[in-house]
Order: sequence, then structure tokens, then C-alpha cells
Amino acid sequence: MNVLITGGSEGIGYAIAAEAVKAGASVTLWARDPAKLAEAAASLNAMRRKGRPEVAVSSVDVSDPTAVRAAAEAYLSAGAPPDRLFHCAGFAIAAFLEDVRDEHVWEMLAVNAGGPIHVARAFAPAMAKRGAGTIVTTASDLGYLGLFGWSVYTASKHAVVGFSSALRHELKPFGVTVQTLCPPATRTPGFDRENLTKPQSVAKAEAAGGIMSAKEVGRYAWKRAGKGGFFLIPSRTSRFLFALSRLSPTGVQRFVPPPGPGGER
Ligand SMILES: NC(=O)c1ccc[n+]([C@@H]2O[C@H](COP(=O)([O-])OP(=O)(O)OC[C@H]3O[C@@H](n4cnc5c(N)ncnc54)[C@H](OP(=O)(O)O)[C@@H]3O)[C@@H](O)[C@H]2O)c1
Repeated sequence: MNVLITGGSEGIGYAIAAEAVKAGASVTLWARDPAKLAEAAASLNAMRRKGRPEVAVSSVDVSDPTAVRAAAEAYLSAGAPPDRLFHCAGFAIAAFLEDVRDEHVWEMLAVNAGGPIHVARAFAPAMAKRGAGTIVTTASDLGYLGLFGWSVYTASKHAVVGFSSALRHELKPFGVTVQTLCPPATRTPGFDRENLTKPQSVAKAEAAGGIMSAKEVGRYAWKRAGKGGFFLIPSRTSRFLFALSRLSPTGVQRFVPPPGPGGER
């Protein structure tokens, strides 16, 4: 089985890669930093089953459609399209709206919302032509909820859910499944970075929902990929919040009241 994982050099993407390697798949990782990619490949190769191919890596910025197209062409010219394509590349910055920097608005939309679109556009035709395969995009709990401190990130992840849902419909007649992974707060290098600037009140609200390990999320995503169901929601608390959000999209917000005038942010 061929598995391509964007954002596979660390965090949730790396955890999915570890499951894929242990299952004996041929794994390719995409991310930007070649040093992190090489380090991830080395540790994944150490988990490889005997006789299975080495993990391949490619340095690609998923927000750049030209770079994505070139890397996809190289991938496809070397062999078959991915059987499973996990798009995990993305990042978060939590901030109250007036504190969000202009460049972060653009970057979150370009990477989180643009990335899965460019990557799917580069691979979907070949997967559809073959008539099989699974694309798993990565949204978040904030792909179906809206919570204070996360307005721009939430916009980027609602875009992932909307895009993935429409693409699922479009590719179904061609035998290609599309699902979207919605992790809760998850311990990863990216989570540690976002915590450096996260407002206290946002961190407190987030902790109330529980924090998972990347390994737990990776295992869940690997197990559920291609198995039916559009939303892949690894946390039990999140599955409850998801059900509630279907009844009342803003009802969940009552559990985590935001700071008002003069309140501690
Ligand atoms: N951790 C959480 O709490 C959480 C919760 C819900 C959803 N998510 C989502 O899950 C996904 C993974 O998050 P994570 O916490 O595992 O992040 P992470 O630890 O920061 O790992 C992110 C991975 O994506 C790569 N990446 C980032 N920007 C990229 C770009 N423009 N082009 C190509 N690769 C890029 C990174 O490598 P390079 O920097 O070298 O490119 C790295 O391999 C993201 O989409 C995130 O929004 C995370």
C-alpha cells in the first residue's frame, strides 16, 4: 500500500506515518524542513518491517500550488498514486481577533485551507482514474465548532471541512473516499509552539475538553481511514460536542464562556 502524508515530519502526521510503517506500507512524507524530514525518516526506518521499502521524503510547501504540482508529478511518475493520502500539514495561532497579525491571517488561510485544495487537485485525477483510494484531510474540532480566540484558525478549518465534504461527493462515483480528521487539542511540537502565545483564557477553555497524545490520534486516523464515515473524531468528548453542534451550532459555546469587558484574557 502506498501512503503519502503531508506534514509527516512531526506531530499527528508523524504518528500516522508510524502506524503506516508498522503496517508495512510504502510511506512518503512531505513537509518543508529537509532536516526534520530526514530525522523523521530515520526514526521511521528503524520501525520498518524486514524487506519493506525505506521511507521517502520530499521538501514541499503545501501552500505553493506550483511546488505541490511538481512534487506530485515526481511522485506519480515514479509509481502508482497513493492508496491513502493523509493531508496533515497545517498550523495554529490562537489570538483574539484584534491581536491577529495580518500575515498570520493570510498564512493560516494559505496553508490550512489552501494546502488541502492544492494537494487534492494534484492527486485526485490519478486516484479517480485508478478508481480507488482514500484522501483524509485534517481539520480540527474547530472545523465544526467556533470558539473564542480561534476565529481565523476556525475559518481556515471550516474551509477544510467544506472543501472535503464537496470533494467527497465529487469523487464518490470514481471510487475515491474523502474523510476529514478532526483532532481535539493534541500534544505535538506544533501544539507546544502555539502555547507560547496562546491567551490564558483560551488555554483554560481548551484544557476543559481534554488533550490527546499524537499517538492516540495517529492510531485512530490510521484505523478509520477508508472505513466509511466522513468525520473522523478521535475524542469521545469531541464526539459529544459534535452531536450537540448538529442540534445547535452555537450551543456548545455556553460551556466555555469567553472573557467580557475587563475580564482576564
Ligand atoms: N495539535 C493539535 O492540538 C491539533 C488539533 C487539531 C487539529 N490539528 C491539526 O493537525 C495538523 C497537524 O498538527 P500538529 O499539531 O501535528 O502540527 P506540528 O506538530 O506542527 O506538525 C506539522 C507538520 O506539518 C508540516 N508543515 C507545516 N506547514 C507546512 C507547509 N506549509 N507545507 C508543508 N508542510 C508543512 C511541518 O513540517 P515543516 O514545518 O518542516 O513544514 C510538520 O511536519 C494541522 O493541520 C493542525 O491544524 C492539530
